Amino acid sequence: MSATAPLVPDAAPACFEDVRAHVAQGMDEVDRLIRRRLGSEVLLVNQVAEHIVSGGGKRLRPMLVLLAAEAAGYRGGQQHQAAAVIEFIHTATLLHDDVVDESGLRRGRRTANAVFGNAASVLVGDYLYSRAFQLMVELERMPIMRVMADTTNQIAEGEVLQLMHIGNPDTDEAAYLRVIERKTAVLFAAACRVGAQLADAPRAVEDALANYGMALGMAFQIADDVLDYVSDADTLGKNVGDDLAEGKPTLPLIHALHHAAPADVATLRRVIENGGLDSLDGVIAAIRDSGAIDYSRARAVRYATEANAALQALACGPARSALQVLARYSVDRNH
Ligand code: IPE
Ligand code: IPE
Ligand code: MG
Ligand code: MG
Repeated sequence: MSATAPLVPDAAPACFEDVRAHVAQGMDEVDRLIRRRLGSEVLLVNQVAEHIVSGGGKRLRPMLVLLAAEAAGYRGGQQHQAAAVIEFIHTATLLHDDVVDESGLRRGRRTANAVFGNAASVLVGDYLYSRAFQLMVELERMPIMRVMADTTNQIAEGEVLQLMHIGNPDTDEAAYLRVIERKTAVLFAAACRVGAQLADAPRAVEDALANYGMALGMAFQIADDVLDYVSDADTLGKNVGDDLAEGKPTLPLIHALHHAAPADVATLRRVIENGGLDSLDGVIAAIRDSGAIDYSRARAVRYATEANAALQALACGPARSALQVLARYSVDRNH
């Protein structure tokens, strides 16, 4: 038994460490699969892919696949490969995202674009995307292919939609929510739906898990957007202020624009229009003073609560408890 295994193996996970212990064996298998299937004969592919994958990451999405499959009663052996598919897609989007966002730090190390350049990052991102589809086709499950085709298409839409709002201080909360649903939440929803599909679960169970994943993904991205203002690079493993630097109107900024003092509103509008980090401290102070951090956190908590409400449709058990813990973790996390 590993040091982190709970004393009572079947006890309901009550905190994030319990969840990790609960899925540890399965996640080891996912990790082995990722490593085995990452490789290429092309040296630069290996270098770039290895650079981002060995940075680790929280591996939250593959955990969702394993837990959703378990919650839906799956007894087969395809969940690890399905989880690897989701993590490969996530990793591909990170390679692309860091190019688009001109980010310099990810998972506590320099980004692939900073080390290898934009071209290598974009191309290896494509490699990982298509590797994900190779792994998915091997599952020979048409419904899963359909979900993943739709999901990746929506992620691409989300990233483009976001691009259209860059530098626009009139972006409202509804527009922001449309962006994060596509760019982030749909992959969380897909991770959960795919787990249910492996189990050939009834439609109500599949939809409940997908609804959970969607709300969880919304909570997760709002929390990420708050962390971009309130964390620090050492804790986060990413540079803070990246969103502001590129004039990306996320929820803390959007809310502050409507609730800050008039002088602060003028500053915030100017910063979004021009980007740059010159006034980060002033912007953070204005955002805090406006109550936008508290508001955004509360919004994330509301989505996490919605996520957990969707789980009520499932039978109780350790997997459902673990999913409930992950909803809370997604908003309380510090990285
Ligand atoms: C980063 O996702 C991208 C967002 C949706 C905010 P994660 O925070 O899950 O990244 P890793 O995989 O743990 O590094
Ligand atoms: C998430 O948005 C991007 C993807 C879903 C690919 P962010 O741009 O906020 O993610 P980070 O902060 O760079 O991880
Ligand atoms: Mg980014
Ligand atoms: Mg971010």
